[in-house]
Amino acid sequence: MRRSKPVVAIDGPSGVGKSTVAKGVASALNYQFIDTGAIYRSVAFAAKTKNVDWQNGAAVAKEAATHHFAFDLEGNLLLDGAPLGDMIRTPEMSEGASTVAKHSEVREVLLDIQRQMGINGGVVLEGRDIGTVVFPDAEAKFFLVASAKERARRRYLQLKEKGEDVSLDDVEKAQEIRDERDACREVAPLRKADDAKEVNCEDISANEVIQLITRSVISRYS
Ligand code: DC
Repeated sequence: MRRSKPVVAIDGPSGVGKSTVAKGVASALNYQFIDTGAIYRSVAFAAKTKNVDWQNGAAVAKEAATHHFAFDLEGNLLLDGAPLGDMIRTPEMSEGASTVAKHSEVREVLLDIQRQMGINGGVVLEGRDIGTVVFPDAEAKFFLVASAKERARRRYLQLKEKGEDVSLDDVEKAQEIRDERDACREVAPLRKADDAKEVNCEDISANEVIQLITRSVISRYS
């Protein structure tokens, strides 16, 4: 199916700056921003609220299927119509999201939901498997990379800014565990799609990455 506006897929590991970049690109193009990590985070949050064990894939999938997920125009996730804000941005929910995301049953429930959100194009989706699994036919695919040290440093500063009591060492260790889980899981592991453009974000600002991606999309699809 030919879409009148492209699906833009932005994948990459934790802490590389995907959200900032995807949000900026969506705003520059006037597209909807869809933060798929927030969906996994809200599933972890909903499961925790109901005392559903994150390790139990079938139970978490069942719980996920009872909820409605949507994004407002700013790209904030609404769970059953209500914003969850920073409640899904804690280190605990980072760990929970990464844990529930390894289950195929959970990913299956969320796959259709993500596809429906982007099916008509004019969207920027960010995650781990957008270019490989959710929208393998996305018209524009980008894969962001940066060293583990730099990614941990950025995540640490973000958490500190939010007033979380964390140490750089703890952030680095937790990131290492999540990186390993996200990249080595059996279903939809973090991987660059063959036709994705790799963008090294180590030494350039988020604004420069936003411009680079926005220009690349405009030059191909306007
Ligand atoms: O991008 P994030 O840190 O908010 O994502 C939270 C977790 O969700 C991450 O550890 C992996 C998982 N995730 C995923 O498996 N697939 C996606 N498309 C997005 C996130």
